[in-house]
Amino acid sequence: MKVEQLFDVKDNVVAITGAASGIGLAIAEVLAANQARLVLFDIDKASLAAASDRLTQTGVEVFARAADVRDRRALRQAFDEAVAHYGVLDTVFANAGIGAGPGFVGLEGARYPGGALEAITDNHWDDVIAVNLSGVFATIQAAVRHMKSRRMGRIIVTTSIASSRNQAWIGTPYMPAKAGAAHLVRQAALELAEFNITVNAIAPGAFATNIGGGRLKSAEVAATMSRNIPQRRVADPQDVQGLALLLASRASNFITGAEIPIDGGASLGRGS
Ligand SMILES: NC(=O)c1ccc[n+]([C@@H]2O[C@H](COP(=O)([O-])OP(=O)(O)OC[C@H]3O[C@@H](n4cnc5c(N)ncnc54)[C@H](O)[C@@H]3O)[C@@H](O)[C@H]2O)c1
Repeated sequence: MKVEQLFDVKDNVVAITGAASGIGLAIAEVLAANQARLVLFDIDKASLAAASDRLTQTGVEVFARAADVRDRRALRQAFDEAVAHYGVLDTVFANAGIGAGPGFVGLEGARYPGGALEAITDNHWDDVIAVNLSGVFATIQAAVRHMKSRRMGRIIVTTSIASSRNQAWIGTPYMPAKAGAAHLVRQAALELAEFNITVNAIAPGAFATNIGGGRLKSAEVAATMSRNIPQRRVADPQDVQGLALLLASRASNFITGAEIPIDGGASLGRGS
């Protein structure tokens, strides 16, 4: 099969949460460049409107709605409206996520008391779990109702290499939230395989996005981080596009329950 057919997503209806920035926006851009029809969800209305306008100008169809993945009822309604608009839903990227602030060690290597277990507030814990774990469940649940009856669908969750590798400089609530999301991906893959719905995860390493106040965009932070990445750089959001296209297209027909790191080798260790 030719590459154009194997990776063809033309006219596919693809929903993305957290679509207004960073990794979600880069996913929207590659799908737009390949003529998918887009459903963009984000909590940030202004950035969503800007992303939607820009993508619409490239000639693709865009359905954008402000949606908070913590609000299950509203999210279900937003998915229902998108499906009422297009008639179908082929693919969903459960990508929305937030950082959990600094961990118990700062990037410079010193202990950081603000990130210690006893300093984590109830609100902070609840919020990270609500967006990064419960929000993924809510997104999968809202989407799957529209996929099962057609016996086809693709669900792609943005986890993190933190789902399986603890990192002292990342806020502790992030770890179980992403590990939970990764395990949910495997369970959902098991349940949905006979409905011809695949469920996979993209596990990014360090990407220069707006997460955590955009600290990975700082040249100084990126240089420090890069020392622990075998490819010796932080990723650009566009680095996710090939994997996103693979997982959204028929090229990945028989891949399900996989969590694929995209991290310049960081999950292997430091390298030299
Ligand atoms: N950047 C990294 O280094 C990195 C590493 C590993 C995993 N990730 C994951 O990648 C995903 C995308 O993050 P990013 O790095 O592109 O960050 P980002 O901040 O640039 O983009 C995240 C988007 O999600 C939206 N969002 C946040 N809370 C939301 C909510 N409750 N409902 C709907 N939308 C919401 C934000 O408004 C934003 O537009 C997240 O799941 C994140 O945990 C990022």
